[in-house]
Amino acid sequence: MPQHRSEPRSSQADDVPSPASDSPTRQSSRGGDVLIEAQGLGRHYDEGNVDALADASFCIRTGQYVAIVGKSGSGKTTLLNLIGGLDRPTRGELHYDGRPLDARSDLDRHRCRNVGFVFQSYYLLPNLTAAENVQVPMFEADYTPAERSARAKELLEQVGLSGREDHMPSQLSGGEAQRVAIARALANAPKLILADEPTGALDSETGDSILRLLEELNRTQAITLIVVTHDEAVAARADHRLRLADGRIVTP
Ligand SMILES: Nc1ncnc2c1ncn2[C@@H]1O[C@H](COP(=O)(O)OP(=O)(O)O)[C@@H](O)[C@H]1O
Ligand SMILES: [Mg+2]
Repeated sequence: MPQHRSEPRSSQADDVPSPASDSPTRQSSRGGDVLIEAQGLGRHYDEGNVDALADASFCIRTGQYVAIVGKSGSGKTTLLNLIGGLDRPTRGELHYDGRPLDARSDLDRHRCRNVGFVFQSYYLLPNLTAAENVQVPMFEADYTPAERSARAKELLEQVGLSGREDHMPSQLSGGEAQRVAIARALANAPKLILADEPTGALDSETGDSILRLLEELNRTQAITLIVVTHDEAVAARADHRLRLADGRIVTP
């Protein structure tokens, strides 16, 4: 269970001014314990001498649906990668579930146990079937082969792909491939899904159905959902927005 931090040191994503959908009732019904807390977070790249992210302080609570929004190059992917433990910050502090994600942390373990990733270009392994792709993260957990296989089938059913278990990625449409990627993200029952431009490669109707699937997981399973997008219409669907410009959080 998330540890309760009685005195969060940073402002909350809730504080980011956002449209009328953020009624206090809705906020209080969707804000659990603090899951992610960043304080003065930064990522400098020596290559090009770029501050891809600077001085980001925010917190995100269990069960929230947050959009990280900003123009191309504003630092969205950089921030998402830090939250997901795909990268380490060069400044500041980041806590997940009350524990620091720092130089001593086992980021592989954090990613495997806590985070499901969904990317714009799916990243399915081309030589594995849909069901085998879904099973890949399960090898890091304690499932038997029979459990892996049953769970993959169940997850594919959950994302609307019953009967597609044995399809190869090349035999799937973009929307279907993204559904497989979402099933794979759910493999180890994460509390958090990080989606980087998940609709970026899809037509608007298919993209909409993918967003609705992610939103349903957020709503019905209380999975915290963070979606990176440059698309204001996508961002408007989230309950809260973290807006980035030139590597800094800005208020709209
Ligand atoms: N590996 C890297 N090395 C050097 N600079 C990088 C690297 N990754 C990203 N950047 C730079 O950091 C900034 C933010 O990039 P990114 O987080 O990918 O933005 P966004 O996802 O909002 O498009 C950009 O200026 C980009 O060029
Ligand atoms: Mg990006």
